[in-house]
Amino acid sequence: MSAPVINGKQVSEEIRGGLRGEVERLAKQGITPGLAVVLVGEDPASQVYVRNKEKACQDLGYYSEVHRLPASTTEKELLALVGKLNRQTNIHGILVQLPLPKHINEKAIIDAISVEKDVDGFHPVNVGNLVIGDDSLLPCTPAGVIELIKRTGIEMAGKHAVVIGRSNIVGKPVSLLLQREHATVTMCHSRTANMKELTAQADILVVAIGKANFVDASYVKPGAVVIDVGMNRLDNGKLAGDVDYESVKEVSGPITPVPGGVGPMTITMLMQNTLIAAKRLNGLA
Ligand code: GUN
Repeated sequence: MSAPVINGKQVSEEIRGGLRGEVERLAKQGITPGLAVVLVGEDPASQVYVRNKEKACQDLGYYSEVHRLPASTTEKELLALVGKLNRQTNIHGILVQLPLPKHINEKAIIDAISVEKDVDGFHPVNVGNLVIGDDSLLPCTPAGVIELIKRTGIEMAGKHAVVIGRSNIVGKPVSLLLQREHATVTMCHSRTANMKELTAQADILVVAIGKANFVDASYVKPGAVVIDVGMNRLDNGKLAGDVDYESVKEVSGPITPVPGGVGPMTITMLMQNTLIAAKRLNGLA
């Protein structure tokens, strides 16, 4: 029997419903959440992501600004724009789409974004707060992963969670958030020697290694929750996750498909972060 599918699109819509209600309440106090997205250059994938963020703002009634800058933009010019957005009172969230052109130091740009407006959760202060368990803006994809696991109704406390991948954007923050939920966490990565032995013990398996169909059924403990963060473009143009969904769903418990699993959650969590930032910057919550 196949495992239940975790429907990220449906969960995402449910969360957006809650956000719409909050937007209406804030409007009565004269507050409209505002998000600024900055895109430098013409990377096709980034263009799609930025357009989707703009659409999400329209959908939820947020104020949005999209700054599309040429690839020749200097670091100084980009820092000046970030500084301006930091000072703008109608902007509560700032997202600079990555990757940036090679001549711009990404770290310098992320460090320049106001901590309170860092809706990506990439600023070192927000990362540090996540590590020590203080309130912070959480990185969107990891926050979406935790939300999806919560909504399976399966308790994380005391479970063994295995994360494959150790990136700053997904693997590391996901492992911290799983620990915050009282799971016991093992991190695996490209140099892990005995990966299958470890993943076969996982009650919860989160895969973010960036290799199409890397995890097959032989990695998975029967009944385990499987969350696939992968988004790999195949030669035939199709999108594939890091998990071989067709084989794994025959042994796993609840599992996310690609597309339609984690993907829709990322932008929704960005919208949630922008709303949280708008409330905090206006002295609410
Ligand atoms: N590029 C790919 N994913 C992301 C993300 O989550 N945030 C930003 N800023 N850029 C990205």
